[in-house]
Amino acid sequence: MDYLSQINKTNVPQHIAIIMDGNGRWAKQQGEDRVFGHYEGVNSVREIVEACAEVGVKYLTLYAFSTENWNRPKDEVDALMELLVSTISLETPNLNKNGVKLQAIGDITSLPKSCQDELQESINITSGNSRVTLILALSYSSKWEITNSVKQITQQVKLGKIKPEEVTAEMIEKYLCTVNYPDPELMIRTSGEHRISNFLLWQLAYAEFYFTEVLWPDFRKNEFYKAIVSYQNRERRFGLTSDQLTKN
Ligand code: FPP
Repeated sequence: MDYLSQINKTNVPQHIAIIMDGNGRWAKQQGEDRVFGHYEGVNSVREIVEACAEVGVKYLTLYAFSTENWNRPKDEVDALMELLVSTISLETPNLNKNGVKLQAIGDITSLPKSCQDELQESINITSGNSRVTLILALSYSSKWEITNSVKQITQQVKLGKIKPEEVTAEMIEKYLCTVNYPDPELMIRTSGEHRISNFLLWQLAYAEFYFTEVLWPDFRKNEFYKAIVSYQNRERRFGLTSDQLTKN
């Protein structure tokens, strides 16, 4: 089925977050090494970024490497870091062509220097673009991010700049990595796992979740459009009743 034609262009989520899962299993199914799945996963990344530009999604956050992923076998971690460097380098002209601005969230200083440099260069080169903002979550975990925010606020309290009773949700948000982006309305996870794995715990408070059995390397444009159509068929109540929503 063609899902693009079913998308209501007036109700496209402005921010979609994705847990790209299943690369390893996809590779095993092909009788290949896990890293082969990550390489193929890059083709899905390219297609989904293009799809965002085509349908008007303004922000796309991809969970590319979690804090916990550092505990994977060293060979796989090294291969992922190399893949990141080569992909960012190769794809930057394509990002520019599609009007994509690259950004990153996470503990970026923990990445290898080559990775940090390539990332920063691409962020600089694409900084003038405004069609889509592509946010790579790298060495990211939500608990790390929230802990950092709390540390910064308690420091302000210690210095007497704010009182404990003045702490607000907005203040916590100000110190999250995502301060410059709206919260995602839709979170997609591929590969049949129904977890959020330390990803944007705060920001996904009211997001719609879409889980699919499709493995990330097979998740291409039409699957992405299908997720948007599913989102558009939901009633987002934000704690209100259905009646209240129809009256307003
Ligand atoms: C999860 O699949 C995937 C990752 C941990 C890495 C994702 C990286 C890419 C798609 C390539 C690089 C991306 C960019 C943005 C340049 P898994 O390995 O956990 O799969 P499994 O659950 O089947 O083992």
